[in-house]
Amino acid sequence: MHVRNMAIIVAMDRNGVIGQNGGLPWQDIRDGKWFKEKTLHKSLIMGRATYEAIIARNGQPLDKRTSVVLSTREWNPEVEFRSGTDERGVRWARDPLEALDMASWGWNGGGTTEAIVIGGAQVYEIFLPFANTFFLTLVEGEYKGDRVFPGGVPGLPVWHPVGDPLKFEGFSCHTLTRVTGVS
Ligand SMILES: NC(=O)c1ccc[n+]([C@@H]2O[C@H](COP(=O)([O-])OP(=O)(O)OC[C@H]3O[C@@H](n4cnc5c(N)ncnc54)[C@H](OP(=O)(O)O)[C@@H]3O)[C@@H](O)[C@H]2O)c1
Repeated sequence: MHVRNMAIIVAMDRNGVIGQNGGLPWQDIRDGKWFKEKTLHKSLIMGRATYEAIIARNGQPLDKRTSVVLSTREWNPEVEFRSGTDERGVRWARDPLEALDMASWGWNGGGTTEAIVIGGAQVYEIFLPFANTFFLTLVEGEYKGDRVFPGGVPGLPVWHPVGDPLKFEGFSCHTLTRVTGVS
């Protein structure tokens, strides 16, 4: 199986700010339910920095999901560099094509044509041209940050809203689909 459907899930402020000092720029945005609903039982592709931020926050990889982590580093310094699956079930990929291959193994090895890119800025930049769906949390206001989503907040003419956004205190959640033939 090959990945044919790629989604991006991201939270950003109105200027496209997504990160600060290795973490999120905000503390009080509770879009966890949305994130879980969109990512559960899926293959997630992320950069090493984002993976480390998840471990710092949760103490473990996201459960009931496959984590595919892009890194040029040795994941096990005891052995010569190689890609593969570590003892936590995290799949370490050396390059984007390997990440796509590992994502296609699916959650629990069942095989899938779907992958969700969960960040950060470097990894969004790599996969944005191939994504056809956006799960976007738009955070109200402006934040100080050192990571910005490539191209800023997605919208027309390239990205078309699907249905009405879900509105919450301080943020809203949007599904967008790529308009074919527009880049
Ligand atoms: N707001 C949101 O929704 C959201 C989501 C995710 C992350 N974030 C934030 O974004 C920030 C992290 O983003 P970031 O851009 O600094 O880092 P990142 O994209 O998470 O990870 C960057 C790392 O990925 C690896 N990598 C990137 N391209 C690669 C390639 N072509 N081949 C192999 N490995 C590759 C490298 O790891 P090595 O150095 O190990 O080689 C690189 O240092 C954090 O502040 C985080 O909290 C925000």
